[in-house]
Amino acid sequence: MALIFGNIFQSIFCLLICLYFCSTVLSNKCDKVSFGDTSFVCRCNSSHCDSLPPLNSVPKGAYIIYSSSKDGDRFNTQTLHFSGKQPQANGKIIINRTAEYQSIIGFGGAVTDAASINILNLSPKTQDILLQSYYSPQGLEYTLARIPIASTDFSTHAYSYDDTPDDFDLSHFSLTSEDLKYKIPILKRAIAMSKRNIRLFSSPWSAPSWMKTESSMTGRGFLKGEPGGKYYKTWAQYLVRFLSEYKKQGLNIWGLTAQNEPLDGRLPFFPFQCLGFTATQQRDFIAMDLGPALHSGGFGDVKLMILDDDTLSLPDWANTIYSDESASQYVSGLGVHWYLNGYLSYNRITETHLVDPTKFILATEACAGSAFYEKKVMLGNWDRAEQYASDIMQDLQNWVTGWTDWNIALNMSGGPNWVNNNVDSPIIVDKDNDVFYKQPMFYTMGHFSKFLTPGSVRHQMDMKGAKSTGVVFSTPEKNLVMILFNKEDSGEILDVVEGNTTFTVSVKARSINTIIWKP
Ligand SMILES: *[C@@H]1O[C@H](CO)[C@@H](O)[C@H](O)[C@H]1NC(C)=O
Ligand SMILES: *[C@@H]1O[C@H](CO)[C@@H](O)[C@H](O)[C@H]1NC(C)=O
Ligand SMILES: *[C@@H]1O[C@H](CO)[C@@H](O)[C@H](O)[C@H]1NC(C)=O
Ligand SMILES: *[C@@H]1O[C@H](CO)[C@@H](O)[C@H](O)[C@H]1NC(C)=O
Repeated sequence: MALIFGNIFQSIFCLLICLYFCSTVLSNKCDKVSFGDTSFVCRCNSSHCDSLPPLNSVPKGAYIIYSSSKDGDRFNTQTLHFSGKQPQANGKIIINRTAEYQSIIGFGGAVTDAASINILNLSPKTQDILLQSYYSPQGLEYTLARIPIASTDFSTHAYSYDDTPDDFDLSHFSLTSEDLKYKIPILKRAIAMSKRNIRLFSSPWSAPSWMKTESSMTGRGFLKGEPGGKYYKTWAQYLVRFLSEYKKQGLNIWGLTAQNEPLDGRLPFFPFQCLGFTATQQRDFIAMDLGPALHSGGFGDVKLMILDDDTLSLPDWANTIYSDESASQYVSGLGVHWYLNGYLSYNRITETHLVDPTKFILATEACAGSAFYEKKVMLGNWDRAEQYASDIMQDLQNWVTGWTDWNIALNMSGGPNWVNNNVDSPIIVDKDNDVFYKQPMFYTMGHFSKFLTPGSVRHQMDMKGAKSTGVVFSTPEKNLVMILFNKEDSGEILDVVEGNTTFTVSVKARSINTIIWKP
């Protein structure tokens, strides 16, 4: 009897400890740490991390505003009542819900070898907190994850799934420890802690060197022969095999880009894994090899995306591939990378949409600190939060249906990366102290990913006399979600007019804001 009571008391005690623990670990407050940059990071350890609780109901006659700013806010939350027009307003926002544009696929980041290694370098408790920060109802609730097919520069070395020369029937194909020990377990934990559906999409960097013209995974190089030939067919089967091996591991891949950055493999001396395609080569590869292989392999419903590269080749690639019905029938959309967006007009993306409005456009890769002259990791840098906000905003204003960050976590020097092509990440892991830092970029991602649930539809929004830029969506939960981004050094007051609803929002200097209400 005493023993039983002992056990019961013990269980209750453990339960109370857990309740206390579970409710305090992701308590709301940011543990601000300054590294002397323009803003600060939020530090998380095995027992403390700031959170972003789920949005429950939105009260009638009120709006909820979440703000993050250079001067100190991180998802600061207020519920305010509609107050009508204010005489002191600086500008006006007019929303037209009758006008509908694209609908959202999702937001997320890439689970690379490097990201997985960094996460697994933390203690199990801190690992969980990091994953919860991205995927759980207390976090950003990401809905997209990109999975590299074999190695990238963000691996510790170059490898493929079949390095046995002339293995045309792929009898030596096998996933590696990077999949089985790092990426797949991380993805499964993320999926298990999410209440949302996480769409997985994959991209190949290089074919095995024996399939390639220069017999190397790096540098200028193409598949040997011609589309429809033996090497192209084997490469298509290799991609199908990857999908099937992941399926066996319990991960169903939603999308596939035909090739990561197909232009890289056309450049001389490109330093890491790549594979070159011209638009016509990719068109013919899809029509003759990849499309039929996906269908006959039982993966006909996987969303196939073309380009997956900078917008420099737009709208040309869309013109070349979408105008050919034998290729276009297999293609669902097109992936864009952000690296040249500072030099090119976003109008190229709208032009691409107009080539074939039935195909979606998804931002498939972006990261800060990638230019050779830039510092890699900048802890607490606000400009990088603004680079993200500015790109996501302009993408959304030009028909883009979602946005995928590059590595979800990097180490203090922005690696590991086997060619030292280090960059920054929204989460930086300091394994020596068993902590991770949430960069300002992390909060930018959340202002979009948490609130623009998949299926949200964008509406027309005119901004008169405003310094801020913005977008507005109707969500499947029947809320209106408006995101306003102000990169100026002064704040402003804006009147919002939507149908018969009128209210005023105050937008701080250098801030990103998500505003939610029931129409
Ligand atoms: C974790 O961070 C919190 C908040 O800064 C601090 O109070 C606590 O001591 C830290 N825990 C560990 C294990 O370092
Ligand atoms: C609202 O959008 C609809 C559909 O595009 C359009 O017909 C209408 O003219 C717009 N109204 C205003 C006031 O712009
Ligand atoms: C990041 O990872 C790379 C590769 O493992 C390593 O060489 C480097 O020292 C790491 N940086 C830090 C600060 O831990
Ligand atoms: C909006 O106002 C107009 C005119 O005052 C009114 O006829 C209409 O019913 C109102 N619509 C809603 C949804 O309240």
